[in-house]
Amino acid sequence: MQRQARWLEPAYKWLFDQVASIVRTRRGSTVPTGAAVGKEVPLSFLDVGCGPCEIMKLVTRYGSVTGVDRDQCLVDEFGNNGFEVKLADAANLPFADDSFDVVYCSFLLLWVEHPVQVIKEMARVSKHCVLILAEPDYSGVVLNPMSLNMVAAMQKEKLEDSGADALAGRKLREWCVEAGLTPELGVWGSTWDIETIRNEIDLEIRSAGLEPDEGLGADMRRAWVQACDDGSATVFYPVFYATVWL
Ligand SMILES: C[S@@+](CC[C@H](N)C(=O)[O-])C[C@H]1O[C@@H](n2cnc3c(N)ncnc32)[C@H](O)[C@@H]1O
Repeated sequence: MQRQARWLEPAYKWLFDQVASIVRTRRGSTVPTGAAVGKEVPLSFLDVGCGPCEIMKLVTRYGSVTGVDRDQCLVDEFGNNGFEVKLADAANLPFADDSFDVVYCSFLLLWVEHPVQVIKEMARVSKHCVLILAEPDYSGVVLNPMSLNMVAAMQKEKLEDSGADALAGRKLREWCVEAGLTPELGVWGSTWDIETIRNEIDLEIRSAGLEPDEGLGADMRRAWVQACDDGSATVFYPVFYATVWL
């Protein structure tokens, strides 16, 4: 999933550009007084479930960013690497109401026990906007050749065995509405080019719990390589996003 967050970086940047511009319009786009007068207003962000801080790196261009994660090891590692990262549960954020301009998450809600409570908390500590950047939906995966559908089904099962909701994407609107919010929904719609597919085959097969050089995994790998060679391979992993204005 961190690979997916990396592929989505240009899409995230596009969305952050739009959101930063709207928030600046709401706040006044330039600093009105003091030493920084006339400069763009720096915005404040909270990354909920920040993991290894990859998205925080992208967001620093818009202002300051704080991360929270429930994984003590990640907090220690990246907190010591120049990022402001706190240990916290997304369902109980240790911040006052309206603390940040924008509160966002990426590939988080599929992992949490109470997604509606997490969305409510994100809205509570945000002044302007909640951004749910990416939640996948493994029943919407499209793979060609069709024989690879088994890989998507096994990836879904493996995620569910690890405690994830593999259908989080389609539930985003429902969860936001239950949290008392009105989301604008979208789907990151790009498909992979043949070279990306070729480079990712082994990792995809492993994420289905198979080995690419053994048994069924090797059969799947052969089918995938063949489809890359003859140009018929298609991969589409639907990833939903939601923007909520407060
Ligand atoms: C799939 S990773 C995504 C990391 C990052 N947001 C990204 O997109 O690259 C999910 C992260 O959410 C964190 N997480 C899961 N449940 C959480 C919770 N209830 N509170 C805070 N963090 C949580 C995990 O520790 C993990 O770092």
